[in-house]
Amino acid sequence: ATVVVLASGTGSLLRSLLDATREPDYPARVVAVGTDRDCAATGHADDFAIASFRVALPEYDGRAEWDNALTEAVAAHQPDLVVSAGFMKILGPMFLEKFGGRIINTHPALLPAFPGAHGVRDALAYGVKVTGCTVHLVDAGVDTGPILAQEAVPVLPEDDEAALHERIKVVERRLLAEVVAAVAERGIVSDGRKAVIPVSEF
Ligand code: GRF
Repeated sequence: ATVVVLASGTGSLLRSLLDATREPDYPARVVAVGTDRDCAATGHADDFAIASFRVALPEYDGRAEWDNALTEAVAAHQPDLVVSAGFMKILGPMFLEKFGGRIINTHPALLPAFPGAHGVRDALAYGVKVTGCTVHLVDAGVDTGPILAQEAVPVLPEDDEAALHERIKVVERRLLAEVVAAVAERGIVSDGRKAVIPVSEF
């Protein structure tokens, strides 16, 4: 399967997915990395000699123009799957129209708990003893799409946001690569709320 990854930050999840694709029998290839700002993720694409493009909202006259530009930039690579790995923008209606049903996002909390841009901080502030990460399909909402996989991560008494987030990312990196491979091999069956990977071990 052909994958385009979207990222906005350090891109450590992107990096781990790129490492996974180095395995000859991994069933997916990342063909491009899209960002919405200058960030370290672009450097990972360069390290792997993979195309990268930047579609930054401030460079457009508005969200609709940005949505259209991002949709065209991704469509140029004809992906089977789009993976959002730390992409800090809400994908627009044109993007969802074009790629809906095959956009995978990873979120550093056990959705529906703690959605949004500060899931790790919010979980810590709430005082939960267990949090985790969620790999899900993207729909028009924020972190609301059908869930494909989840894994719990303990919160330790001395945790600050960075320590907890890194512990979660260790799990996210593995879970994301597993889900992308499973979807690449078996596709996704989603009926409304539930999305399952046929014969899935999740
Ligand atoms: C991940 O925890 C992801 O779930 C969240 O942003 C983080 C990205 O981490 N949306 P990185 O930039 O890949 O290191």
